[in-house]
Amino acid sequence: MQYYQLANGDRIPAFGLGTWKSEPGKVYQAVQEALKIGYRHIDCAPIYRNEPEIGQGLKEALSSGIVKREELWITSKLWNNAHKEAEVIPALKQTLADLQLDYLDLFLIHWPVALKSEVILPETGSDLIPLTEIPLTETWKGMQGAKEAGLCRHIGVSNFSQQKLASLKQVSGQQPEVNQVESHPYLQQNELLAYCRSEGILITAYSPLGSNDRPEMLKKADEPSLLEHPLIQELSAKQNLTPAQLLIAWGINRGTVVIPKSVNPQRLKENFGASEIVLTEEVMRAIATLDRGYRFVDGSFWEMAGSPYTLANLWDN
Ligand code: A2P
Repeated sequence: MQYYQLANGDRIPAFGLGTWKSEPGKVYQAVQEALKIGYRHIDCAPIYRNEPEIGQGLKEALSSGIVKREELWITSKLWNNAHKEAEVIPALKQTLADLQLDYLDLFLIHWPVALKSEVILPETGSDLIPLTEIPLTETWKGMQGAKEAGLCRHIGVSNFSQQKLASLKQVSGQQPEVNQVESHPYLQQNELLAYCRSEGILITAYSPLGSNDRPEMLKKADEPSLLEHPLIQELSAKQNLTPAQLLIAWGINRGTVVIPKSVNPQRLKENFGASEIVLTEEVMRAIATLDRGYRFVDGSFWEMAGSPYTLANLWDN
């Protein structure tokens, strides 16, 4: 397993298990299976609505001795309806109770988007709160408080643009250690990656396989397939890899943490097998030509009549 070192010397596994879209009935098994295979990093979030089942899987694995807590890296995220400073610790405590853990290794602000406390997913524009009302700096203060309270070891953000990271830096002493964003050959995020590298912020790549199991309402009619792209197919066949393994290895070879989701034992094993593969510069260069700035998760679900959020102010482009 490859690791990246954080400022205090802690090491985060470069490869982890994604759990978005992992159904509660399947994720308990998947977590057990993954830990047996050798996975040591699990990426969670309360909005995935499966943390209690992941918690059961973790508890079982810890008590049966498959793995020790200190060998694990568990990430979870703050949902958008708990962005007020005083709401952060209670939300984290709920996640810890669900995951049956005393602390998280990493806690992230899930989106730079705020919702009313009683709203899980917005149905009308008035369910959303503008960032002028609950600034990200306020939420970040809550995150820092959670770390000081010992409830998480590291804090970071997700879906943050370079501009949002820079403005957080201006007003806050402590920068996020991680920014988790969508990244794969169609959305390489080279500028953001370079900025984060220069600021000592690690990038975690979500949807590294294109998240083909997204609910239909989050899909566009004409989406390009990543796993079936002819170049990905050709290069992976040449390297004796599967397309998914090539995509995972590509993400790790460019210095990002990669968190593919699977609940299938065969694919869990296949994906884990990609975590140590070193690709040649020639292969990396060939894959680099696929960049097209394409988001599978484009955030348009925050954009509705009366919402203060637009794709332009979400991604700052
Ligand atoms: P499954 O859970 O049945 O294995 P992402 O990580 O980009 O969100 O992608 C997750 C999707 O990719 C899921 O549909 C998952 O299905 C599928 N998937 C995971 N691993 C592989 C693999 N090795 N080959 C093909 N599809 C995969």
